[in-house]
Amino acid sequence: MAPRPVSLLALLALLALSLACHGDRRRDASEIEAPPPPALEEYMGRRIARTMHSSGAEWLLRETREEEERPSRLFDALAVRPGWTVADFGCGNGFHTLELARRVGPAGRVLAVDIQPEMLVMLRQRAAAAGIANVETIEALSHDPRLPPAACDLILLVDVYHELGHPEETLAALRRALRPGGRVVLVEFRAEDPAVPIKELHKMSKVQIRAELAANGFELAEEFDDLPWQHVMFFRAAPALRAGAERARDQALKR
Ligand SMILES: C[S@@+](CC[C@H](N)C(=O)[O-])C[C@H]1O[C@@H](n2cnc3c(N)ncnc32)[C@H](O)[C@@H]1O
Repeated sequence: MAPRPVSLLALLALLALSLACHGDRRRDASEIEAPPPPALEEYMGRRIARTMHSSGAEWLLRETREEEERPSRLFDALAVRPGWTVADFGCGNGFHTLELARRVGPAGRVLAVDIQPEMLVMLRQRAAAAGIANVETIEALSHDPRLPPAACDLILLVDVYHELGHPEETLAALRRALRPGGRVVLVEFRAEDPAVPIKELHKMSKVQIRAELAANGFELAEEFDDLPWQHVMFFRAAPALRAGAERARDQALKR
């Protein structure tokens, strides 16, 4: 008997099922064809720090972290709502990811993005052990977070931005990933405060953060100054770019 032709519908259904089963985006060869632009060593007068290696990931889960950084206050300040899509960009082994996943609830999801696959393996193990199913991991490229467009209500970067070797490409991609009204939140150790026991290269001042974000089409929306060691700065897309993005979308819809 001749084999029956597989319908296009059946193929699409199979593809959808396999994507749903994986729930994470690893890099594949077709996505790394074009070499990234060279990583910067300095940006707007600031030296860029090296990426924290996954071999030191245990430090991110240290017992004293609550006492030192007060992440519980940070979570309240983020005011994450059930049903939201939140990206934890530079998530590491998921210290913030799991609590974000609890707060967005089963109707929401957390897109956990990191450049080191080893970090994402640890995060997936921690999520499984905690019975958390609404986290999707995304393996980033150095210049591309690979987030879906217009998907995120909030994008959180804790202790990450100062490590980015491609700040301009990354910020442009984060802007594209925001929903209308969505915000990007930078949490960075305070460079203005010598009492914060972190190496200078891993700290940033408010002035520097604001200048770099403004140069890339973001404006400050809100600040939270009640953490012991870190700045918390909320940014939204600046109006000129918002208008530009809306025009581009309208033109695309007309085609
Ligand atoms: C200091 S760790 C902070 C991890 C986590 N946010 C936390 O506070 O526990 C910085 C993380 O950012 C990730 N990272 C650095 N550059 C990145 C990039 N271009 N894209 C995605 N992740 C990146 C590193 O791999 C590392 O896991």
